[in-house]
Amino acid sequence: MKHLLNGTFTGTTRVPGDKSITHRALMLGALSEGTTHISRPLISADTLRTLENMRQLGADITRDGDDFTVVSAGHSRLKSPLETLYTGNSGTTTRLITGLLAGLKNITASVEGDATIAKRPMDRVVIPLSHMGADITLKDEKYPPVNIHPAVIKPLEYEMPIASAQVKSAILFAGLFTEGKTIVHETHKSRNHSEIMMAQFGADIAVSGSTVTLTGGKDLTAVDVTVPGDISSAAFLIVLALITEGADVTIENVSLNETRSGIIDVVKHMGGNIAITEHDSTGEKFGDIRVQYTPDLKPFHIDGDIIPRLIDEIPILAVLAAFANGESTVRGAEELRFKETDRITAVISELEKFGVSFEEYKDGFKVTPGYGTVKEGELFKGYHDHRIIMMLIVMAIAVNTNIEIDDDSAIDVSFPSFVSDLEGLRKDR
Ligand code: S3P
Repeated sequence: MKHLLNGTFTGTTRVPGDKSITHRALMLGALSEGTTHISRPLISADTLRTLENMRQLGADITRDGDDFTVVSAGHSRLKSPLETLYTGNSGTTTRLITGLLAGLKNITASVEGDATIAKRPMDRVVIPLSHMGADITLKDEKYPPVNIHPAVIKPLEYEMPIASAQVKSAILFAGLFTEGKTIVHETHKSRNHSEIMMAQFGADIAVSGSTVTLTGGKDLTAVDVTVPGDISSAAFLIVLALITEGADVTIENVSLNETRSGIIDVVKHMGGNIAITEHDSTGEKFGDIRVQYTPDLKPFHIDGDIIPRLIDEIPILAVLAAFANGESTVRGAEELRFKETDRITAVISELEKFGVSFEEYKDGFKVTPGYGTVKEGELFKGYHDHRIIMMLIVMAIAVNTNIEIDDDSAIDVSFPSFVSDLEGLRKDR
């Protein structure tokens, strides 16, 4: 597939609903008694996997236009699925559903995804779930398929060895209907959508510093969820606007949850022209983000606590770094090697084709700003990773080059309307 979308990007737009919040709303809707309306969810390959999986467990889920309605008789009425729960490319579905199924105690199920999921470590969730008493087996004790057998589980106090909202959430889902206190301590705080939404559905959950305490055993009650736009999708438009001449783009109703908004801090630190208007909300914060072309951007150096707050934005931040006025570094981000693909390798190998210079580290990279000319006939690899493909498209637009990507279908995982939304903002120069 060839990509050429050059021009000036101006106007007001929205991005699809937040992926993490949509997955959790579908899961908590299925676990709660009553009707959960989900407004403006992300409708994409990944979230449709979660939707289908919840149907297989017995929830009645309908799609009304752009919204979902989940009707369920509650967690105690969910049943073992007759067939394998297929999770496609979705790591979040695979990991969270493993915790959810362990928490249902009487379930026998097998969970399996596509070829990329088959290579993603699941022992990170199965180890703590086994400490709770879950009976789960993996291929080579590490990879899907995940086979869950009925078991009685007990609460757990767990020190997270890595910053991972998926691991934290799997433990919390398992703890929801388990009498007693399930406690998770984090070293670096990861996204907190599960904690916020479980409280909204009536779970007894409290957060103090980097410790989450869930007192299990309460039935959940359905509530409506309005999903804000995904800041991880907005990130591609934010970077595009910062680095393309004449750009002035406003993205409305984007999640501003502090556990996700690290990219805004980085852009502000770089001197980027960005303005945030927060709207009133209870629960998840959201607002509008206006970004304008900024020719002179300072470099950035990120490590430590900020990394989980922008983990999914690191590929597109590598593009931004190529346009800064000095060397930028990313450290403490070894987790990138365990995403849809090894994103450190993918970012470096594909952006080097544009002439960007990198130094690779085990846990990140250094970017020397600047770029060259793409070789005639160069074929770019998308690695079946939505964020790598969108990163490549933004870079190609910014350097005014037509590129060919081997397979760009994975965009559907999180931002199916990406190319047409860009087209909607584009004016011919
Ligand atoms: C997610 C958590 C993050 C993130 C992923 C979505 C979630 O993964 O990279 O895209 O919804 O919980 P980890 O928790 O594995 O870091």
